[in-house]
Amino acid sequence: MGYPTYLRCPKCSATYNTNLVRNLCDCGSPLLVDYDLVGIEAGGFTPASLVGRPADMWRYWEVLPLNDRTNLVSLGEGFTPIVPLPKLGAEVGLPELRMKDEGLNPTGTFKSRGAAAGVSKAKELGITRVAMPTAGNAGGAWAAYCSRAGIDFTVVMPADTPEINMLEAHITGGNVHLVRGLISDAGRIVGKGVQRHGWFDASTLKEPYRIEGKKTMGYEIAEQYRWDLPDAVLYPAGGGVGLIGMWKAFNELEALGWIGARRPKLIAVQAAGCAPLVRAFDAGEHESVFWDGAATVASGLRVPKALGDFLVLRAIKETDGYAIAADDEAILAAMERTARVEGAFICPEGAANVAVLPDLVRRGVLKTADRVLLLNTGTGLKYPSAVRRPEFPVLAADGEIL
Ligand SMILES: Cc1ncc(COP(=O)(O)O)c(C=O)c1O
Ligand SMILES: [Zn+2]
Repeated sequence: MGYPTYLRCPKCSATYNTNLVRNLCDCGSPLLVDYDLVGIEAGGFTPASLVGRPADMWRYWEVLPLNDRTNLVSLGEGFTPIVPLPKLGAEVGLPELRMKDEGLNPTGTFKSRGAAAGVSKAKELGITRVAMPTAGNAGGAWAAYCSRAGIDFTVVMPADTPEINMLEAHITGGNVHLVRGLISDAGRIVGKGVQRHGWFDASTLKEPYRIEGKKTMGYEIAEQYRWDLPDAVLYPAGGGVGLIGMWKAFNELEALGWIGARRPKLIAVQAAGCAPLVRAFDAGEHESVFWDGAATVASGLRVPKALGDFLVLRAIKETDGYAIAADDEAILAAMERTARVEGAFICPEGAANVAVLPDLVRRGVLKTADRVLLLNTGTGLKYPSAVRRPEFPVLAADGEIL
């Protein structure tokens, strides 16, 4: 038995039943899941109780939104490794630099977590048809988990999304549609389909449960750092759900009594070609403004206006965090450098974190002694076109290396 109590609106505090299908609050805000954390702790959910549980995100079952384990749809997502980056760390003067590698998830990105939680809850609620717009990786993940759950899935993505994302969503059973436009245009088309066909709209943050899956990154970071959180966490933010999720996880962990009041600086990293959150942060605003002409090689960051922008900005503010952008050239150079010196073939979104490190050090946001954690949100293997292909020497069949 899980213990979700209700969905709560972070804007107007209205509450809704978690056993009924729901998207947004009546006021238009995304909804967050509340738990009876005191009751959960009293029921025996303690750090010691985690010992021996499966090494996936469902080890935090008590703070996940399902009522019944039979509705669980899993491919073994989560509990990804945290690896040191000693050479990159030395280059930028951060000896305690580490990376949590979400590329090891079943669909190659952290989107597996959100899809596992969202699809499991959709199954529990009896939803049979789901639709969403996607920048790419979420569509692939939701297609996979929907197929596993026997749920019909329709996805709309920009026509210039990396081809592998289309093929992934297609082979795992999704009804794939392309749009000559951005994810915001895809969202409008899905909205019309929802009205017409009665699909469940699983757009980012219009669906309240995927954030519960993504928050498990926060629980894992706490457990992997032995309940002594790092000083800063860098996250490549499109919609920013992972960042909101980690912020929620740390607040829950404090309410459970597993950690104290100290928080890592949550640092949102965007691409210079689409940086609405950075612009809002720099201006001291509480919400972002639609970014015109969004373009970046880091396709997951191409979100011109996020529904949960006010939550991202709140999380940054409450943790004394920061927001910063890198241009595509720097992102690709960082991707290459990380692969070359650390052997880690990370995605462009994850590489944006690496690209901004020198600036963060220069601006005094990060200090030498800080324990810094980068979230690599996906594997570089999903982005073959981001790698510059050199002229390889071609040898005759009986040739030799000169
Ligand atoms: C690899 C990757 N990283 C980061 C993001 C951004 O995620 P979020 O929308 O939760 O900020 C995405 C979203 O598509 C992604 O695919
Ligand atoms: Zn509300």
